[in-house]
Amino acid sequence: MAGDVSEVSFEYRSAQLRKLLLIGIGGLVMLLAACQGSGAASNSGRTPLVLSTVPPLPTLDEGEIAAGRQIYADYCAECHGADLQGEAEWKLQNEDGSFRAPPHDASGHTWHHSDDVLLEVIRLGGARLTEDVGGTSNMPAYGEILSEAQIQTVLTYIKSTWPEEARQVQWEQTARSQP
Ligand code: HEC
Repeated sequence: MAGDVSEVSFEYRSAQLRKLLLIGIGGLVMLLAACQGSGAASNSGRTPLVLSTVPPLPTLDEGEIAAGRQIYADYCAECHGADLQGEAEWKLQNEDGSFRAPPHDASGHTWHHSDDVLLEVIRLGGARLTEDVGGTSNMPAYGEILSEAQIQTVLTYIKSTWPEEARQVQWEQTARSQP
C-alpha cells in the first residue's frame, strides 16, 4: 500500500512538473516572438540606423547675395573690412580690453559657428559678451537697426565668400544645431 501511494504522488508530481515546463516553454516562445516583432517594427520602412543625416548644402540666392553685399558695405565693412579681412592684428585685444573686429572671410572663425550663433551675434552685438567674459566689444547690436530679413541677407552674403569646404562645415554646424 505504501508503495502505491508514493507511485501516485510521483506521477502527480511529474504531471505538475510537465505542466510547469510547458508554461515555461510557452512563455519563452512568446517572449521570443515579442522580441522579433518589435525588431521587425523598428526596421519597417528600412530606416537607416544613422539617426541624423545632414541635407545637401543649399545654393545661395544670387539676388540675396547682391542685397547682402550692399548691407555689408553700408554697415559692416567699416570694422570688418571691405574685403572681409577684419581689423589689423585682430587677434590682439585693445588696451581698453575691447576686441577687434575679426575677418569674416575663411581666415576668421565666423564659419565655425552655426547660423543661430551668428544671427544672435549680429542681433545682440558685443553686449551679449559682457556677462560671459567681462570684456567689452565694439560690435554694435543690429537687432534694432536692421530688420530680421536684412540680418539674414547679410549673413548670406558673408557665406557666399567662403570656399566650399568652409561652407560645408558651417552648414553641418547649422543642421546639427536644429532641434
Ligand atoms: C564698430 C565696429 C563693428 C561694426 C560696424 C560691425 N562689427 Fe561685427 N564685430 C566687431 C567686433 C569688435 C567683433 C568681435 C567681438 C564680438 O564678437 O563681439 C565683431 C564680431 C562679429 C561677429 C562674430 C564673429 C565670430 O567669429 O565670432 C559677427 C558674425 C559680426 N561681427 C557680424 C557683423 C555684421 C554682419 C556687421 C554689419 C551688419 C558687423 N558685424 C558690424 C565690430 C564691428
